[in-house]
Amino acid sequence: MNDWIRELPKAELHIHIEGSLEPELMFALADRHQMTLPYNSIEAAHQAYQFQDLQSFLDLYYAGANVLCTEQDFYDLTWAYLQRADKQTIRHTEIFFDPQTHTQRGIAFEVAIAGIHQALVDGQSQLGISSGLILCFLRHLSAEDAMKTLEDALPYQDWIVGVGLDSSERGHPPSKFTAVFDRARAHGLLTVAHAGEEGPPEYIWEAIDSLKVSRIDHGVRSPEDPKLMAWLKEQQIPLTVCPLSNIELGVFETLEQHPIKQLLDAGLRVTVNSDDPAYFGGYVQENFMAIYEALNLSQQDLYQLAKNSFLSSFVSESAKEIAIAELDAYMHQTLQELPPLYNTL
Ligand code: ADE
Ligand code: ZN
Repeated sequence: MNDWIRELPKAELHIHIEGSLEPELMFALADRHQMTLPYNSIEAAHQAYQFQDLQSFLDLYYAGANVLCTEQDFYDLTWAYLQRADKQTIRHTEIFFDPQTHTQRGIAFEVAIAGIHQALVDGQSQLGISSGLILCFLRHLSAEDAMKTLEDALPYQDWIVGVGLDSSERGHPPSKFTAVFDRARAHGLLTVAHAGEEGPPEYIWEAIDSLKVSRIDHGVRSPEDPKLMAWLKEQQIPLTVCPLSNIELGVFETLEQHPIKQLLDAGLRVTVNSDDPAYFGGYVQENFMAIYEALNLSQQDLYQLAKNSFLSSFVSESAKEIAIAELDAYMHQTLQELPPLYNTL
């Protein structure tokens, strides 16, 4: 199954590129800039990655990002992710970046976006991975700071498909950013937001009503609100779910308690993603494998999750059709190897 999942064509829609910074690259970049890390070794960094909640993770995540200084650093970070994505048959990826994490420490907006963008261009030409870049505002900072960041971004609008909202959720409701998101949409940018990760279902409603999002990132607290479940199903608003992240951050105690199967069975448009793979012990393949094992998913479930990833992406309808045709062909080619469950397709 691990091989089958690895070769299943899929899209990733929820990956913070700063969260793909593996300790190996962190040490290499610290060397490059003669910086000292708070860890003595790569092994010590791995051991330090034990989190109680979202904030305890974010503290290490922002500290780790300090080694990202030059355009080359951002290129190397993104290229390393794309190479891993390629090995896991990710055909399309929509990547978040957090410009304020870098501008706050004196790294110009242009440095981060130029390095990431060049790697994405090379990912398309050298690996055949299509991509979109989503600028995330840090919700623990002010709406004014977000608006200033949007102004910085507008000259690079051709490189960005949309804007999102991440960082500490509790106490920072989506409605705080209504004006910024209005302005982004007026410029033709799409919108997404983290909601219902640690925060309540009301934040999901706010993201939909006030920020007019095309997708909800996480949304795993939706089952607490039956009306919301009905609305997400009716509107087919995608949820970009990140199972290993939710366990590592204590949103659910065990994978067996994770609601992804419940959400899928209820007819919601659920996708599987890695969030911050360097910190949470796995990329998309490992996330698929973990839920397959813990929740007894069928191959039909896995097919539906992969199909949802293309349906939920920001590519053209014709690109979706091409991607889903490849996915269907893969299912048919591998049919003989599959247990009878597949025949329910
Ligand atoms: N930034 C990086 N990962 C995040 C997460 N899981 N939630 C909120 N902000 C984030
Ligand atoms: Zn996230």
